[in-house]
Amino acid sequence: MKIGVIYYSYSGHTKLVVDQLVMLLKASGADVSKIVLEPENPLQLSAITVPLKEQPDVSGFEVLVLGTPVHGSRMSAPCWLLERSQR
Ligand SMILES: Cc1cc2nc3c(=O)[nH]c(=O)nc-3n(C[C@H](O)[C@H](O)[C@H](O)COP(=O)(O)O)c2cc1C
Repeated sequence: MKIGVIYYSYSGHTKLVVDQLVMLLKASGADVSKIVLEPENPLQLSAITVPLKEQPDVSGFEVLVLGTPVHGSRMSAPCWLLERSQR
């Protein structure tokens, strides 16, 4: 099973959790890839649009894990937009 762990982290906390998760998944034998969302503007709170340096290709994964900080009581804008784009 191919697992994609996609995350955005502004100040590093989400990255720490994601790194631990990926390490544990790999240790259990999972085929896991880690993808970081890198917005051109690192703290863009508007979710109307958040230009990313690179748009991730998530089509090959059977399972997606989304790692995000909470910004303004919801997912961070990069993760929110990615989740919306996959519906
Ligand atoms: C602009 C901004 C807005 C935030 N809004 C919330 C919030 O609404 N609720 C909350 O519990 N934490 C909020 N936080 C705190 C972050 O979710 C928290 O510090 C998180 O661990 C940061 O993750 P990161 O280091 O991966 O960016 C906010 C942080 C920032 C920078």
